[in-house]
Amino acid sequence: MDRFIIGGGRRLKGKVRISGAKNAVLPIMAASIIARERSLLTNVPQLADVRTMMELFNHLGIGVRLKGNRLEIDPSGLDRYDAPYEIVKRMRASIYVLGGLIARLGKAVVSLPGGCAIGPRPIDLHLKGLSELGVEINLSRGYIHARARRMRGKEIFLEGPKGTSVGATINVMLAATRAKGKTVIYPAACEPEVIDTARFLKKMGVRITGEGTHRLVVEGGRPVSGARHRVIPDRIEAGTDAVAAAITKGDVVLEGCCPDHLTVVIEKLREIGVEVKAKNRTLRVKAEGRPGPTEIVVAPYPGFPTDMQAQFMALLSLSRGTSVIVETIFENRFMQAVELMRMGARISIEGN
Ligand code: UD1
Repeated sequence: MDRFIIGGGRRLKGKVRISGAKNAVLPIMAASIIARERSLLTNVPQLADVRTMMELFNHLGIGVRLKGNRLEIDPSGLDRYDAPYEIVKRMRASIYVLGGLIARLGKAVVSLPGGCAIGPRPIDLHLKGLSELGVEINLSRGYIHARARRMRGKEIFLEGPKGTSVGATINVMLAATRAKGKTVIYPAACEPEVIDTARFLKKMGVRITGEGTHRLVVEGGRPVSGARHRVIPDRIEAGTDAVAAAITKGDVVLEGCCPDHLTVVIEKLREIGVEVKAKNRTLRVKAEGRPGPTEIVVAPYPGFPTDMQAQFMALLSLSRGTSVIVETIFENRFMQAVELMRMGARISIEGN
């Protein structure tokens, strides 16, 4: 590729501060409603999805106040248990209030999320896990009606056709805080956002072990209280900025990130010739010349994240030689390829 549009622009230089993780703050917000007392979250990113979750909380009677990056949640006034389609259709992660409401009230009526741009994204594993815990689930007119009469902890097998599920692991973990006895989620998703949610629940008084492994154990039925928590940095934002630095042959310092959550992404960048230096909570990304080619196979954490696949496709379009990217988690996640092709990238897609 001699002629490429994004490669020819200004080199990115300077420092960027990485925000808190969207995919951690949303389930942590849902976790906060299992208590009656207030919780305080810091390092909260200012994003539309956070505001959508706040809107849903307002609807449920939960007090929320976002000041800068501090979010105060007061769930004492919770007086509804329904999540309407108008909100859930805008943000799939609203589905996390299902687990939160079951844990707090023993009942919930939550709209089915429907499809999204990257495929049908089913929630069968969420519902399977919840029913095994003793939650009665009925689907009617596009809504999930959930009612927990007697919830008992048990071993729940939660593997789907694509492997572990972040969302199902979190929803079942939240609901399991109400179930008497031990719930073992196997195989549990190991993503840092699952760990961060588990850590917040532990601060609330829930007994959890094994977070970050495939065997996550929740001992439910104990009293819980509000908690304070600092949300982990967003690994996808950091990875995206790192790729932007590489694409523009820039020299960028990413502050306030967690390099440990980016091991595979950093390894891939180094493999294709990008200089990456990690020091405590800082990454310095420097690139000169065109990247080399590589092969990427997307996998659940600690594998290569599906959420970084599109950015790497853009970067590898600039490379000398042929790269191969295999997406294993979401169908329809190569939508960016056609846009890159319009810009002159040479890409061929196999499979569906
Ligand atoms: C989360 C992230 C998303 C990321 C994805 C995979 C949030 C808010 N979103 O999405 O950014 O791309 O993890 O790392 O955290 N599946 C089923 N049945 C289910 C649930 C999932 O078959 O009940 C399938 C999905 O279609 C997909 C795979 O399992 O193929 C993994 O999905 P999952 O980990 O659940 O993704 P999300 O939690 O939706």
